[in-house]
Amino acid sequence: MIEVINTSKEMSRVSDNIKKSGKNISFVPTMGALHRGHLSLISKAKKSGDAVIVSIFVNPTQFGPKEDFAKYPRNLKKDLALLKPFAPLIVFAPSAKNIYPNDFGTFVDVEDLSCKLCGEFRPGHFKGVATVVLKLFNIVKPDFAFFGKKDYQQQLLIKKMAKDLNLNIKIVTCPTIREKDGLALSSRNAYLSPVERKSASLIYKALKTAKKMAKSKNAEKIISFIKRFLAASPLIKVEYASIVKKANGAAQILIAVKIGSTRLIDNILI
Ligand SMILES: Nc1ncnc2c1ncn2[C@@H]1O[C@H](COP(=O)(O)OP(=O)(O)O)[C@@H](O)[C@H]1O
Ligand SMILES: [Mg+2]
Repeated sequence: MIEVINTSKEMSRVSDNIKKSGKNISFVPTMGALHRGHLSLISKAKKSGDAVIVSIFVNPTQFGPKEDFAKYPRNLKKDLALLKPFAPLIVFAPSAKNIYPNDFGTFVDVEDLSCKLCGEFRPGHFKGVATVVLKLFNIVKPDFAFFGKKDYQQQLLIKKMAKDLNLNIKIVTCPTIREKDGLALSSRNAYLSPVERKSASLIYKALKTAKKMAKSKNAEKIISFIKRFLAASPLIKVEYASIVKKANGAAQILIAVKIGSTRLIDNILI
């Protein structure tokens, strides 16, 4: 069975009962318009044998005033049909008013991380993400929470918030699921016209070629290659292409582009 819950109060009560029964909770937060990327996170959550809760909530506070909040795809019926094979499952689909009542006024700011990269182009975005994820964590009370690597900076931010605020939740990052031509699945891919969709395949091609270059070339050369490679398509505008060093000595190339009004992100380990 798929149980749909619409209020925080009811969700919290159901979560308390699951915990009392001695089960763990695995949680997959989403904004709906589900695709194979989301489903891969849910599969992973299901493997744990825990009770699995999927939230579907298009979070208004993570959209800028000129962004696509109003037109973001919403189709709960279709989403529930896609979730059917994962039953038993709990879907938490609250209204914006339920999550943000009129007198709401507390926000979470993961300093530093939230201003860089995507944060520079989407001011306030990560404040909205951190706030809603902490709220969802407090309502759902998960032991494990699953996030996709496609949103690389987001999963870093959530891990940092969990550590800084002593959340007793294990954050699990799952691999990026891609279309045949390499394009990372995203709900926003639905905005692309056929020609835009074709050019979008260049993003992952650029990243894969860049990964090969990384054996012999320095960061500056790699970034300028990516920018030149993508400039071949007049439809693509690069917001940033950046190499981020990781604690273990490896590095990640992160990229954000606009194709028409559609913003797409991707990344690869080098
Ligand atoms: N292609 C993908 N592969 C793996 N996980 C993904 C993919 N796309 C989105 N996710 C993950 O699903 C969760 C919900 O993201 P959401 O914003 O609803 O989807 P999208 O980014 O596609 O619009 C996030 O943790 C996100 O990283
Ligand atoms: Mg997203």
